[in-house]
Amino acid sequence: KNGTDNIATTILTQMDTHAAFGGVVPEIASRMHSENITMVLEDVLNKANMKVEDVDAIAVTYAPGLLGSLLVGIEAAKTLALVYNKPLIKVNHLAGHIYANNLVQKMEFPLLALVISGGHTELVLMEDDYKFKVLGETLDDAIGEVYDKVARVIGLDYPGGPKIDKIAAEGNPEAIHFKRVYLEKDSYDFSFSGLKTSVLNYINHEKQAGREINRADVAASFQEAVMDVVTEKAVQAVKASGMKKLVMAGGVAANSRLRTKLGQLCDRSGIELYRPRPSLCTDNGAMVACSAYYKYKSGQRGTMEMDADPGMPL
Ligand code: KG4
Ligand code: ZN
Repeated sequence: KNGTDNIATTILTQMDTHAAFGGVVPEIASRMHSENITMVLEDVLNKANMKVEDVDAIAVTYAPGLLGSLLVGIEAAKTLALVYNKPLIKVNHLAGHIYANNLVQKMEFPLLALVISGGHTELVLMEDDYKFKVLGETLDDAIGEVYDKVARVIGLDYPGGPKIDKIAAEGNPEAIHFKRVYLEKDSYDFSFSGLKTSVLNYINHEKQAGREINRADVAASFQEAVMDVVTEKAVQAVKASGMKKLVMAGGVAANSRLRTKLGQLCDRSGIELYRPRPSLCTDNGAMVACSAYYKYKSGQRGTMEMDADPGMPL
């Protein structure tokens, strides 16, 4: 409601199914989307004690993401909009991640957003609602992707991010020194492939030497290396762009170490930090609805001809 209140949310996760394959299988993902979308819709309407007739608009994410899954959502949204004669709003899912912050505290602009998920790692300057300027991004792997890869090699199920987060709490972050890549001082781009290789090499080396791997230490040391780079770069970007506010967004924003570490660094630097609720950091419908609110208010509408755009940036 009003882009700031969450009346009800239903999240259906397919992660248990994908875990068996070590990652998301696109065909299975889209099939499960079409099998479950009606049930999810019914469930959220029940929770809210509402009917489709009661809503003001139907919002859907059209980009970026897996084509098949996006299409299932788009077709469902178009059908609802048509049958119930409601405006259709299309939103970029990365914008959704950022707007999940409004459910905690309404964002005040200008600000810098750190968007970190399974497919993206970006620093985005926002002068106002829906004004996105990407200052930097990853040149290779996204953070979530690296978390999932490292988790896999130490024997943790997909998605590995939350599991690394959990076991890292019992490990020593200084046990192993992994490579930190900062690129040039005035660049806000990221590179994580060197760190990923450094962790994989360490594990291979230990295995070859016949030594048992301490998973908690590997997780904690890896996590500290990632978060050292991310927090430092983000704060540096906030200062260099003359901002006073930093917003966290995306699945990896649920990370407990990052939330603490960035919180401390921002406190010391006089930066106001916005953190979405951990449960609304990973993909969800509430964030899509929040970001759609601004498009709705400004009269921007999707059409029956709208299509998915898997690679669309912010
Ligand atoms: O935003 P999201 O749900 O989906 C994408 O848009 O990609 O993000 C999922 C990613 C996965 O890579 C997952 O491992 C990571 O976010 N993730 C985490 C945590 N929770 C989810 N990474 C680190 N720590 C977490 N607590
Ligand atoms: Zn996402």
